[in-house]
Amino acid sequence: MTAPRVLLTGAAGYIGSHTWLALLEAGFRVIGLDDFSNSSPEVLNRLQTLSGTAPEFVRADVRDAMALNAVFSAEPIDAVVHFAAFKAVGESTAKPLAYYANNIGGLLALTEAMQRHACKTLVFSSSATVYGNPEQLPIREDAPLSATNPYGSTKLMGEDILRDLQRADPQWAMALLRYFNPVGAHQSGLIGEDPRGIPNNLLPFVTQVAVGRRPHLQVFGNDYNTPDGTGVRDYIHVLDLAAGHAAALYYLLDQRRPITANLGTGSGHSVLEVVRAFELASGRPVPVQFAPRRPGDIAASYADATLAHQLLGWRTTHDLAAMCADSWRWQRQNPNGLAG
Ligand code: UD1
Repeated sequence: MTAPRVLLTGAAGYIGSHTWLALLEAGFRVIGLDDFSNSSPEVLNRLQTLSGTAPEFVRADVRDAMALNAVFSAEPIDAVVHFAAFKAVGESTAKPLAYYANNIGGLLALTEAMQRHACKTLVFSSSATVYGNPEQLPIREDAPLSATNPYGSTKLMGEDILRDLQRADPQWAMALLRYFNPVGAHQSGLIGEDPRGIPNNLLPFVTQVAVGRRPHLQVFGNDYNTPDGTGVRDYIHVLDLAAGHAAALYYLLDQRRPITANLGTGSGHSVLEVVRAFELASGRPVPVQFAPRRPGDIAASYADATLAHQLLGWRTTHDLAAMCADSWRWQRQNPNGLAG
C-alpha cells in the first residue's frame, strides 16, 4: 500500500510545522500549504534539514479556491489536517471580520474543495476555548460549549459546520481536536513558536524575558481561586500534540468514524509553577510583576484526556520540565525568532 498523502494547511506555523515532521516520521506523504501571513518561509529550510528531504509545499491562502483545486487535481489527497487560522484572542475582538473571514471562510473553501474531489477525511484544529468558562474540572468532551470572543466563536462555528456536514454526509470522517495550551519545541531547536510582535501567550513571553528581550513577565492576576492564586492551564508539549494528529489520522483512515477529543495532559500548572519550572530548566531568572487579571481569562482549565487515550491509543509523554527545556533551547538558538 502506498503511504497516505496528507495536505496540511497552516503547515509553516507552530503546530503545523511540528505535525508536518511527525507525519513524515510516521510514514505519511505530506504536502504543506501556507501563505506565511503569520509564519516564515525559513521553516521550510528547517524542515528540510530535519527530514532530509525537500518539503512539498504550496504557497497560498487557504481561501484561494483555485489554488486548492490545483492541489487536489495534481495528485489524490487522502486526508487533510486544517491548521490555517488566526488565533489571537485580543486581536479577534478588535478585528472580528478578519477572524470570521479567515477562519470560517478558510474552512468553507477547504471543505468545498475536499467535497469536490471526494476527499472526506479531515482533522480540524479546535481549541479548549470552546468550553468557555468550564463548570467542571477536568473538562470532558461532553461539557457545555460556549464562546467568549470572536476567535472562540470561529472555533465553535467551525465545529458546528463540520458536525452539520458529517450529519448530512456520513461518509465524512473527521476529528475535531481540542487543544489545550501547546508549548515546547522540537528538541533540535530548529523549529518552535515564533510569534510576531509582543507575545500574547505565556511561554513565548517567559522565554523572551529569559533571553533578555523583555524586562519582566506580567502575571495577570494572583487572586484566582487556585492554589497559588494564579491561572492554571493544561500545558501540552507540541511534540505530543503533533503525535496526537498522527494518531487521529490513523484512526480516521482506518475506522472512518467521527471523533471529538481533547488533546491535553490531564493536569494543570499555575503561572508561577511554569515560571519556576522554566527558571530551573534555563538557569535564568524570570522576574515577575503581578498585574490585574486579563479580561476574559478564566481561573483554571485542564483536560480529561482519557477519551483520546481510549480511542487513539495516544497519551502525552513530555512533562513540564521537558516543555520548558525545549522552549528554552529554541529561544536560545533563535533569539530573534526565524527572522533574526
Ligand atoms: C489563550 C486563549 C485561547 C487560545 C490560546 C492559544 C485567552 C483567554 N485564551 O489561552 O483561547 O486558544 O491562547 O492562542 O486569551 N499569562 C500571564 N502573563 C502573560 C501571558 C499569560 O500571566 O504575559 C497567564 C494567563 O493569564 C493564563 C496563562 O498565563 O493564566 C496562560 O495564558 P495564555 O498562554 O495566553 O493561554 P490561554 O489564555 O490559556
